[in-house]
Amino acid sequence: MCGIVGAVAQRNIVSVLIEGLRRLEYRGYDSCGVAVLGARGPSRARSVARVADLEGQVRDGHLEGVTGIAHTRWATHGAPVTDNAHPIFSRDALALVHNGIIENYETLREMLRGKGYEFVSQTDTEVIAHLIHSLYRGDLFAAVREAIAQLHGAYAIAVLHKDQPHTVVGARQGSPLVVGLGDGENFLASDALALAGSTERFIFLEEGDVCELSLDGVRIVDRQGEAAQREVRQVAAYGGAVELGPYRHFMQKEIFEQPRAITDTIPQADAFDASIFGEGAGQVFADIDSLLILACGTSYYSGLTAKYWLESLAKIPTQVEIASEYRYRESVPNPKSLVVVISQSGETADTLAALKHAQELGHKHTLAICNVGTSAMVRQTELSFLTHAGREIGVASTKAFTTQLVALFTLAATLAKLRGRLNDEQEAGYLKQLRHLPAALNSVLALEPQIIAWSEEFSRKEHALFLGRGLHYPIALEGALKLKEISYIHAEAYPAGELKHGPLALVTEAMPVVTVAPNDALLEKLKSNMQEVRARGGELYVFADTDTKIVNGEGLHVIRMPEHYGLLSPILHVVPLQLLAYHTACARGTDVDKPRNLAKSVTVE
Ligand code: G6P
Repeated sequence: MCGIVGAVAQRNIVSVLIEGLRRLEYRGYDSCGVAVLGARGPSRARSVARVADLEGQVRDGHLEGVTGIAHTRWATHGAPVTDNAHPIFSRDALALVHNGIIENYETLREMLRGKGYEFVSQTDTEVIAHLIHSLYRGDLFAAVREAIAQLHGAYAIAVLHKDQPHTVVGARQGSPLVVGLGDGENFLASDALALAGSTERFIFLEEGDVCELSLDGVRIVDRQGEAAQREVRQVAAYGGAVELGPYRHFMQKEIFEQPRAITDTIPQADAFDASIFGEGAGQVFADIDSLLILACGTSYYSGLTAKYWLESLAKIPTQVEIASEYRYRESVPNPKSLVVVISQSGETADTLAALKHAQELGHKHTLAICNVGTSAMVRQTELSFLTHAGREIGVASTKAFTTQLVALFTLAATLAKLRGRLNDEQEAGYLKQLRHLPAALNSVLALEPQIIAWSEEFSRKEHALFLGRGLHYPIALEGALKLKEISYIHAEAYPAGELKHGPLALVTEAMPVVTVAPNDALLEKLKSNMQEVRARGGELYVFADTDTKIVNGEGLHVIRMPEHYGLLSPILHVVPLQLLAYHTACARGTDVDKPRNLAKSVTVE
């Protein structure tokens, strides 16, 4: 999704800006651009291709400067064409980049047209540029502060003006923005990752903050205009670029990294102890009577899986809701409910807003399960559990999902223990199973050649149905999501018991039916559902635990999984579905790591 980089320095800053954009590329974008200040005002290069193309333009056009801003855009208002790419100019005096959505842009555009401003893009961003320009009286910082008071919506912006050659002004409301502190130079970015290699000292701006970068310092004021002292954090973890190694795509690499990611995420402690979730977690867990899980996309499906664990193991009522729905719905708050937000990035706009909404409704206990320790979500929750998936580049989430499941299972077991529902033997058993998971995952990854053979078949289809039951229904949902995201095959998932209430009407030999078949208490029910499919000529592709004894037959294709893995089985069963989606997408020749129209980090609502 959209990314911002900005810098004020005494050296040519273009390569830093381009490198920053390159680091944000994996998030998904459809155009990009960079602007620097010169003696006669800002000049820019923009591209509707990749950052590499922008770099070529910059080189050929000898674009150089000591003060600059850059952007990757994921189109919301207006198509991904050059005119809509950022930086957006106002009267060749001011350049601006923006993440987020301005809701009152139409009203502002009419007002600014009335003042003689001409609009050359379809973006909501252009109103911000002209608005700041119209308010500029020799002080960019003051003009930005005045302008943002008129904006409704979410934004992170970086802006420069030709009359202030060593200044970049930034502001945030609803979209992340960080300041990077250098020596005689300072930076701004939507994610600290963009500035790896330039600095390790960061200030994470808070909602409503406005900052002014100059060569020798950074000024920050809060929403009220009061000087704000923000903590400077040392963030060294962003290291070098992630290498692809022997893999064809990052998604494949990340699927195969899961045993390592899970090893790193499993708590080191030899007991399920509340302290794993942060200081004071024991008291919080003793106070609560239910859970409210909020998330989007794949993270939502990990929440759905967790509901089964939390209710069966810990016997604690659990509600799971899509963040974008919850934030706008009139709900009945329960202050004794623990709000759990799950997110790979920790910056997803809807999840952040849902968290804020829950807090405003009076929910006082919050927990983030997140893969980024410095993210807004971790900073805004009382408790946290960090997954150690490592950076995930592929837009389609894989290792982040399975590590979230490990975190959530740990939560369920911890709550079960605190509530007297887990004896020592069971606790030791679950810990042992968790520690054995990486080895079990390796044996599932070894099924790749068989899955490749299936994927050839799938690549020729336009529709697919995924079935699962109970604990594995969310896994079927995740399998269908993976397939549609990267192969563009229409895929739907159903709890198998619902087949007869609709989807059975779609079943023909042209619609492969993928079935997740663990050897659990619902197996016999699932087998009946499979019969219903076969009776209508449907082709079944079944991932069956070895001990189910389901074998190949007419219209019944089986890949044998290891023996049933009990409650942790979903963590194993999702892996072949990831591989099926991946290889099907490869066979169809799609851009696996950057599927069309999708973004890795969704920082707009
Ligand atoms: C996007 C990504 C998904 C991800 C979802 C939620 O849609 O493409 O892979 O599951 O956002 O993101 P989060 O960072 O909150 O887990």
